[in-house]
Amino acid sequence: MSEERPVYQVRPPEQPQAFCVERVRADFPILQQQVNGHPLVYLDNAATTQKPECVIQALVDYYRRDNSNVHRGAHALSDRATAAFEEARSKVARLLNAEDARQILWTRGTTESINLVAASWGRSSLQPGDRILVSAMEHHSNIVPWQMVAAERGATVEPIPVDRSGTLDMTALAAMLDGRVRMVAVGHVSNALGSINPVDRIVALAHAAGALVLVDGAQAVAHWSVDVQALGCDFYAFSAHKLFGPTGIGVLYGRRELLEAMPPYQGGGEMIESVSFAGTTYNQLPYKFEAGTPDIAGAIGLGAAVDYLNRLDRAGAARHEEALLARSVALAERVPGLELVGTAAHKASVLSFNLAGVHPADLGTLLDQQGIAVRTGNHCAQPIMEQFGIPGTVRASFSFYNTFDDVDRLFAALEKARQFLQ
Ligand code: ALA
Repeated sequence: MSEERPVYQVRPPEQPQAFCVERVRADFPILQQQVNGHPLVYLDNAATTQKPECVIQALVDYYRRDNSNVHRGAHALSDRATAAFEEARSKVARLLNAEDARQILWTRGTTESINLVAASWGRSSLQPGDRILVSAMEHHSNIVPWQMVAAERGATVEPIPVDRSGTLDMTALAAMLDGRVRMVAVGHVSNALGSINPVDRIVALAHAAGALVLVDGAQAVAHWSVDVQALGCDFYAFSAHKLFGPTGIGVLYGRRELLEAMPPYQGGGEMIESVSFAGTTYNQLPYKFEAGTPDIAGAIGLGAAVDYLNRLDRAGAARHEEALLARSVALAERVPGLELVGTAAHKASVLSFNLAGVHPADLGTLLDQQGIAVRTGNHCAQPIMEQFGIPGTVRASFSFYNTFDDVDRLFAALEKARQFLQ
């Protein structure tokens, strides 16, 4: 067998080239297709991002060449799989600027990462009367796990107010923080509105009051380089599939001393040091939290996505996304009856809106017929939709591979739909 190493293990160091959207688009084969007779305009990036060819190839290479279970295998395939799997963990640690790769836990996604903290830290630490604060615009995955553990432990989950623009009320947060608040759990970016929360300021306030901070980074990691040490947060969660990687795998970063003190989340193989009927002892970090065979291919695919991002001019990509958002906001202001939902001063490239008298689902269907992929509904953020008195929105969410033509096509399709519906 050739000794040639698979693509996900070795990458020649490349200088990121200046950002060029046409060059980047060519890396994403799925974008080159027609949908309903029109070239696809994919604007559902907040739900999941598309995968570059190198990520798809890393998955194929793994299954064609190295597929094997990780750790403790007494053979070459297992050694190769283990090396690639652990290298992916190190790549993620470097991406987030974590102190140590052992602080990177593999989970199934953001949702499981939050459930892990709620179940493990929450069950072992919360006392009756303790308070957990979440923003009023959280995704359900950063509300419900806390409600579940709060009900078990006699704690409460309370919303931090958000104003009509979708901006978190920092004054209200400061006033809510008292000695009983144990956790502040906030999204870095709201999936429904695009608002960017000032995580560093939230951390400073929460820590001063003795509370921990968990950040749901699902909607942030694709837009800029996150530095967990600079943010100072205690936990940071994200999903690979929103970072150009595969579905089914995600990450929980945690502060070392917290993870060390937390009990295991699930029991099984891998997470133990020794098992006997007299008593079981647990493995070290990160394996203490990784019961069972992990998503090996998923981790390797995520590692390939991180490599891809490292080769990209991320600052240029971020500027391009900002320009896409600015153009879409300018065009939205000219559409009669269009109301933007989420107009915070600091926003990621998410455009949520409604057309007067039109149900978001109807609009979504008419856009799909013209090859435009958007998401409609409450975006798993029912409390903020209820606060705004709307059933949901139409959400166009941009990635760096979207073009100005995509934005123009969205608004041309919207105009057609508007004339048809109104
Ligand atoms: N949470 C994902 C979204 O916002 C699915 O679309």
